[in-house]
Amino acid sequence: MPTAAQERLIRPARNVRGSLRLPGDKSISHRYALLAAFAQGVSRFTNFSTGADCASTLACMEALGAKVSRTGGRSVEVAGASGRLTPAAHPLDCGNSGSTMRMISGLLAAQEGRFTLIGDASLSRRPMERIRKPLEAMGARLTLTEGHAPLTIDGAPLHAIDYTTPVPSAQVKTCILLAGLETPGVTTVREAVRTRDHSELALRAFGASLTRTANSVSVRGPQDLHAIDAAVPGDISSAAFFLCAAALFPGSNLVIDDLGLNPTRAVLLDVLTALGARIAILNVEEQHNELVGTVQISAPPEGLGGTEVSGALSAQLIDELPVLAAIAPFTRNGIRIRGARELRVKESDRIALAAKNLRAMGAEVTEFDDGLDVPGGQSLHGAMIDSGSDHRIAMAFSVAALGAQGDTLIQGAESAAISFPEFFDLLNRVAER
Ligand code: S3P
Repeated sequence: MPTAAQERLIRPARNVRGSLRLPGDKSISHRYALLAAFAQGVSRFTNFSTGADCASTLACMEALGAKVSRTGGRSVEVAGASGRLTPAAHPLDCGNSGSTMRMISGLLAAQEGRFTLIGDASLSRRPMERIRKPLEAMGARLTLTEGHAPLTIDGAPLHAIDYTTPVPSAQVKTCILLAGLETPGVTTVREAVRTRDHSELALRAFGASLTRTANSVSVRGPQDLHAIDAAVPGDISSAAFFLCAAALFPGSNLVIDDLGLNPTRAVLLDVLTALGARIAILNVEEQHNELVGTVQISAPPEGLGGTEVSGALSAQLIDELPVLAAIAPFTRNGIRIRGARELRVKESDRIALAAKNLRAMGAEVTEFDDGLDVPGGQSLHGAMIDSGSDHRIAMAFSVAALGAQGDTLIQGAESAAISFPEFFDLLNRVAER
């Protein structure tokens, strides 16, 4: 059910202080849902993502034969289908979620039957050729609609491949690994940049064996998976909005507990440190191969410096770039983003929308095909923000609004619920006015 469009008024803040514990990581929740639904036995998760995207994955896996129960709050129980997914009576609705569509496709390619996957208007514009190519190289049959969803998969027995991803993508890597899990022989995925490795870590947690080198991962299929009980670490991409907000206000002090600190996801902490923020990491432990810990951040008294994000860093920070762009005017020396063309094919064209909204707030910005230059030392004024129904744009510009003069109106604020329904309440809790 689409939620009605909502506007949110964000007032400037004097400071950001407090402590938070965030809902479970979206990327990890997707993977736990997929693998649990495919595995033998009953998996139990606590702190599962509260975002609509992960609900789409759960609903699709339920339609394919897994049994899903919400056991209260953020707890979910999934009874797996023991490796045999059954075609659903209706198309599988992936909603706004590219992760759902691309990763489920890998699992379905080797299953018997015909499966149709659909998504909302934004997802129906996103590139799916990138999964068709490797899956067809494995012998699967995928029919796209002009390179996009709706897509139909005619499942078939596959053969293993050795594939180098042309664009770094954890979703595409996962898609191929999941198909490889069901396929005799060794399937290898090579990537120029190590993208988030939650699939590799989760597959091992569910009992699969994988081999890894610095730039490749291989799985020998077929392998069975076995249910697990797990707590999902807090989502560091959701934390990014609060970390960036706290980095803006001298005198700030924010603590985030139980946060996922997987090194392929935590690059923002290095970037904020390079900008001058003071960050302490405490109580680090491992849960099902994922690092989890407490992060404490405060802003430097002299304000943030400046930095450039490009190359491999851009791929690893892809979801955090909108909020970095949004706080860039408040730095002393600005932020330069390059090598981030992928931002143009996310839930929205995030380069175009970041530039548009920065300008609406009075900032000077130069847009490039693969990034942005945002000079520092600029002040922003409150404005009407066009989120493009993109959750990360809505939240990024809510953070910019805290440092602006005057109130800001976020249009399409309901989109935050795609990954983080609690965002505005928590922002109000830590923003001092
Ligand atoms: C994700 C991978 C990234 C990221 C997305 C989540 C994942 O997408 O932007 O929000 O969970 O694997 P790509 O694989 O398209 O880079």
